[in-house]
Amino acid sequence: MALLGGSLRPGSASEAVLHLCAGLAAGYGARTTICTAATLDLPLYRPGALHRAPGARRLVETLRRADGLVIVTPTYHGGVSGLIKNALDHAEELAHDRPAYLDGKVVGVAAVGWSEHGAATAVTSLRTTVQSLRGWVAPMAVTFDATGVAALDVAEARAALRGDARLMRRLDILLGQVTDFADRYARARLAA
Ligand SMILES: Cc1cc2nc3c(=O)[nH]c(=O)nc-3n(C[C@H](O)[C@H](O)[C@H](O)COP(=O)(O)O)c2cc1C
Repeated sequence: MALLGGSLRPGSASEAVLHLCAGLAAGYGARTTICTAATLDLPLYRPGALHRAPGARRLVETLRRADGLVIVTPTYHGGVSGLIKNALDHAEELAHDRPAYLDGKVVGVAAVGWSEHGAATAVTSLRTTVQSLRGWVAPMAVTFDATGVAALDVAEARAALRGDARLMRRLDILLGQVTDFADRYARARLAA
């Protein structure tokens, strides 16, 4: 499973949520690749370019190999951050794969904002993008109001989030759905 998310802000709450998701995924037996904002900080996607930055090529390979994805975006102006959207635009390089784009991959989405309402707008926009890429969006989605952890450093924010039973329960449902569906689809393909 590949996990993409976070922001370049020191103490990023969405990155902290991403790491919690990775821990839960490992608990479900998934092998995980984590792509934080530092690895997703790529040049803008250029359609048709002959040369891609090494980081962009690695991201495309990560997306190609993944049986499931979890994406955790910060909410920026009512939607997905530019950094995360640019990373997803690179999935255009999977257009000629069979199956193409994110088809056959289950994708769990979560968003962090200054309110759960704000984050819900980003979740909606992220779902639309994933569906446009033919990804199979998990029914569960998680929104998180990060105002309570905004002033904390990374370690403090992670500890505070881990102690948030409601958040952890919802993330656990999300990761359960993504790993379960990825497993079922892999077994169905083997049996076909
Ligand atoms: C440029 C920018 C735009 C933002 N727009 C919104 C918004 O529309 N709605 C919202 O709820 N929060 C908004 N926020 C707040 C962020 O979603 C919040 O700070 C979140 O924690 C950012 O993720 P991070 O902690 O991983 O950096 C915005 C923050 C920035 C920097």
